[in-house]
Amino acid sequence: MITVIGSLNMDLAVKMDVFPKQGETVLGDQFQTIPGGKGANQAVAAARLGSQVNMIGCVGTDDFGHTLRNVLQKEQIHTENLVTASVPTGIANILIYNNDNRIIVVPGANYELRPAHIEAAREIIQQSQMVIMQLEIPMETTNYALKLCKEANVPVLFNPAPAANFDIRWMEDITYITPNETECSLLFGNDFDEVLTRYPNKMILTLGSDGARFFDGEYPIHVPGYMTNAVDTTGAGDTFNGALAHALIEGQSLDEAVYFANIAASLSVEKFGAQGGMPTLGAVYARMGGFEE
Ligand code: RIB
Repeated sequence: MITVIGSLNMDLAVKMDVFPKQGETVLGDQFQTIPGGKGANQAVAAARLGSQVNMIGCVGTDDFGHTLRNVLQKEQIHTENLVTASVPTGIANILIYNNDNRIIVVPGANYELRPAHIEAAREIIQQSQMVIMQLEIPMETTNYALKLCKEANVPVLFNPAPAANFDIRWMEDITYITPNETECSLLFGNDFDEVLTRYPNKMILTLGSDGARFFDGEYPIHVPGYMTNAVDTTGAGDTFNGALAHALIEGQSLDEAVYFANIAASLSVEKFGAQGGMPTLGAVYARMGGFEE
């Protein structure tokens, strides 16, 4: 069983052919309101692959909040620890241009998730095989959750996004950390070889379509990505994290799990929306076997 402690956002996604300059107005191509948030996305990614998942988070009492709760329930994710607050549900303004995205998050209810809510979920956390966290909730809540996991001896997979909210002292309480190159430069430095050597079998540097790298204690390992035609890369990192947690609790070795997560992420970018393309276990195995489901 996996527990995700993190954010839920409604993604307001606009696809465009021309990116506006400062002060300019352009016409967009497509607009969609799609469930997202790094926490919810990672929960959905793991659940679609067959993991049992609990979500700890906070939404508002508005329509977005109701929709986000329902979406998780449809994915068979446990929402007993999904609390509500009388503030607007978090949103993410997503600009999709040139097969890449720029995201502005307004945390809203996500910032109402308090240490007391984590404490209330102590039992479920203690029973989890892995906890996944990101950085779209208050730092004091992340800090409390990490201490609780450490005390309960529950491994933590930490996705340090958005990087600005990270406290380097948390590294000793984290089992696996999955920065992308931007996050790694910001938090640990630009010399990726040196940084990875500092955190053997713990830091997995994600490289987008190039896959991921880690240091196994003896050798640097590069697990290549799977080349595909991306429609929307939003949520690719979240799919990677959810799939990595699923594979690790299933007993795969780190290199097998990273390969599995790369394949899952490659499938996720083929459809629009963060959760839209997240694959089932069958789809991942089909791609690994070289034939489609
Ligand atoms: O990682 C993608 C996610 O980041 C989006 O779904 C958005 O809500 C932001 O949290």
